Amino acid sequence: MADLQHDYPWTKYPLVACGPMRLIALSKIAVEVSKAGGLGFIGVGSDASIMEAELDKAKQQASQTATLQDQNEILPVGVGFLLWAGDKLLEEALPLLEKYKPAAVWLFAPTEPGQLVRWTESTRRVTGGKTMIWVQISTVADALEVTRTCQPDVLVVQGADAGGHGLEKCAGLIPLLPEVDDAVSALCKEQHDLPKPQLVAAGGIMDGRGAAAALTLGASGITMGTRYLASPEANIAKGYRDAVLKASDGGVTTERGKLYDTLRGTTDWPLRYGGRGVLNESHRDAAQGMSLEENKRLYEAAVKKGDEGWGESARLTTYAGSGVGLVREVKSAADITEEVREDAKQILSSIASRL
Ligand SMILES: Cc1cc2nc3c(=O)[nH]c(=O)nc-3n(C[C@H](O)[C@H](O)[C@H](O)COP(=O)(O)O)c2cc1C
Repeated sequence: MADLQHDYPWTKYPLVACGPMRLIALSKIAVEVSKAGGLGFIGVGSDASIMEAELDKAKQQASQTATLQDQNEILPVGVGFLLWAGDKLLEEALPLLEKYKPAAVWLFAPTEPGQLVRWTESTRRVTGGKTMIWVQISTVADALEVTRTCQPDVLVVQGADAGGHGLEKCAGLIPLLPEVDDAVSALCKEQHDLPKPQLVAAGGIMDGRGAAAALTLGASGITMGTRYLASPEANIAKGYRDAVLKASDGGVTTERGKLYDTLRGTTDWPLRYGGRGVLNESHRDAAQGMSLEENKRLYEAAVKKGDEGWGESARLTTYAGSGVGLVREVKSAADITEEVREDAKQILSSIASRL
């Protein structure tokens, strides 16, 4: 079985990664996370138009950082794609993957399983196997299918609490991760030539306590999205960041669904996915029967308000996970990465010392 610190020598155990939040996680945050001994991802999403410029910036920034130089010809950040965008995205991405050889591609939300196989095979071919394959899944069945068909290096196991998009039906991390671990271990034991992927946990991890829990469940590393929204390096409006800092009790103040995609016009997601965001006026009005047409009109008017458009009593989309109440202050992406990693180690060793 691969070892993440061996594959990514600049990283420290346990691996802390920043999720490839589309157009929010760009080269700036990705490099800061990697500089702090984690792995940062650039969220290219469904359209490759920003990919070359961001990879280029990441390359330049990494070349100025002693710990990130000379990484065996790989760029020490990853790149995330939304596969429902189709094969055009793959065609556009491949020459850039070949040129920059990022540390990982993070594949998410295919419309059919064959897409994952095409991305995996062609990425490995053009990068000579230097770019690792990470696939984000949320069910045991998907974990088994992806392991069989793609032999990924990493399965990102995303639980129900995750911010942004995920499966509308899936379990939380506490039952999901060990069940995936057991099922994938059994499959790889049965089929001797099938390497077991590393498991990286995602969904509801906001601090060292959540990270320590994920490690005890069988993860080799963790990914956060929502927590990094409160870093100055995340490419979001102040109004969005303030709404994240203000929200609490996310089990009741956030929900996963399709309303915000419908209002924003991002309706290409496969049916089984929804986006988790903070509930606001758009949601309340829809629940009380406002027509979609009127809701959209008000949404577009709110866009024009800028920062004032976000908040509990406003209308704009605030994608965030149910752990949002634990995000209480703005901190640099590097400090978040280091703090979560060191707190997790400290918690685990203090528990071990009492056994
Ligand atoms: C605002 C936001 C945008 C996201 N965008 C993407 C994306 O474009 N691609 C992707 O694979 N995951 C995306 N995610 C999901 C993350 O990769 C990850 O699974 C999630 O953030 C983990 O849960 P957490 O938010 O509780 O930390 C997004 C998450 C958030 C909060």
